[in-house]
Amino acid sequence: MVLARGARLVALATLAGVALNTNLRRNAMYALKAVQFLVHGSWSYTRGGFEKHQRAYFRAEDVAVDLHDKHVLITGANSGIGYCAAEALGLRGATVHLLCRNSERGEAAKMRLVQKLSERTGAATGVSVSTSAAERVHLHVVDVSEAHSIRRFVQDYLERGFPAPNVLVHNAGAMTSPWKATSEGVEVNFATNVMGPVLLTDLLLPSMLQSDGGDHRVIFVTSAGMLTERLETKDLEWRDRARFDATRQYAKNKRQQVAIVEQYARTVSPDKVLFVACHPGWAETPLVQEAMPGFYARLRGSLRTADQGADTIVWLSCVPRSRIEDGMLYFDRNIVPKHLPLSDTSYHVRDAEELLRKVRQRIDEISAKAESSAARVAGAET
Ligand SMILES: NC(=O)c1ccc[n+]([C@@H]2O[C@H](COP(=O)([O-])OP(=O)(O)OC[C@H]3O[C@@H](n4cnc5c(N)ncnc54)[C@H](OP(=O)(O)O)[C@@H]3O)[C@@H](O)[C@H]2O)c1
Repeated sequence: MVLARGARLVALATLAGVALNTNLRRNAMYALKAVQFLVHGSWSYTRGGFEKHQRAYFRAEDVAVDLHDKHVLITGANSGIGYCAAEALGLRGATVHLLCRNSERGEAAKMRLVQKLSERTGAATGVSVSTSAAERVHLHVVDVSEAHSIRRFVQDYLERGFPAPNVLVHNAGAMTSPWKATSEGVEVNFATNVMGPVLLTDLLLPSMLQSDGGDHRVIFVTSAGMLTERLETKDLEWRDRARFDATRQYAKNKRQQVAIVEQYARTVSPDKVLFVACHPGWAETPLVQEAMPGFYARLRGSLRTADQGADTIVWLSCVPRSRIEDGMLYFDRNIVPKHLPLSDTSYHVRDAEELLRKVRQRIDEISAKAESSAARVAGAET
């Protein structure tokens, strides 16, 4: 009896020790990744890093491209990196579709962009350009965290006869705290950063696959913050863990974006559609100011401009497709590793498959719920 109790105590103590060690190991690994991320970031992700890379290997001719026949869709295009990418691509002649959740902020961005394109294109061509600039900029009010809003947008886009997008940029991003759900009941960061982009891609993909000889590229704007996180495939909406941490949920979402890009690249022919992720470095934008005030205060003087943050999106939209490698992560016009040295963040292909399957399952649940409540309303009315 005494022996049995003793054995139980030893077993419990051993388990506690293992748990403690596992926790210590996990915390130490996390600290190691965070330190590597910050040291590397200060050297490379800042304005100084951009200028260093620009001097070393950027080629102006890569982005001196006429995009007149191209349609580019950019989510979160009313501000920061998304707006700068829209402007840079519009100045190269692309037809730009601004996907913004707020109509006033969207209209303001559209006006600013039309004005800019009119001035600059006018100077270059001398034709009556303000109309043509206005014709090349389209605002679509769409909230990428809400499945119903995305479905409505895609239906409208296709019904209006716009062509399959040549470039689809998933730029809208959220790092929102405390935990909250969208009107459809989905955790808002996951809904904006992961679920919405998957649904938007899946709904537009058939048009890209069917277009003749098209050149289509899907770009996910991720964050280097994802380097500190493992791929989360279980608790996608932070429902099972205590103490919600928006910075970590955002970083997990950004890691998920990279895995999702790989999964699309594995399943869609690159001759039809290319899938890549890119990260902008650390750029001065409202997201950084509002969601990370401490980080912003410390790095304020050395952050990149939003234009510099948008540079790789512009480059990926301009260079010939043969220069782009499907499924890769890009930063400052280069392929970069998806994992930090000595980190334990690698995962298996089946994890990425499981993730994308679960995201689509969540989308199906929302659709089923919406259909059954629409049927209830219709039933009540008849
Ligand atoms: N700035 C950086 O240093 C940095 C670093 C790494 C990654 N990134 C990534 O870069 C991307 C752009 O961010 P940013 O830095 O340029 O910040 P930003 O200026 O705040 O832009 C974020 C954009 O996303 C839009 N947005 C947010 N939720 C949305 C929703 N549900 N539906 C539609 N649009 C939505 C915002 O619209 P509202 O104006 O209506 O809020 C805004 O236009 C994000 O994906 C971010 O994660 C930025």
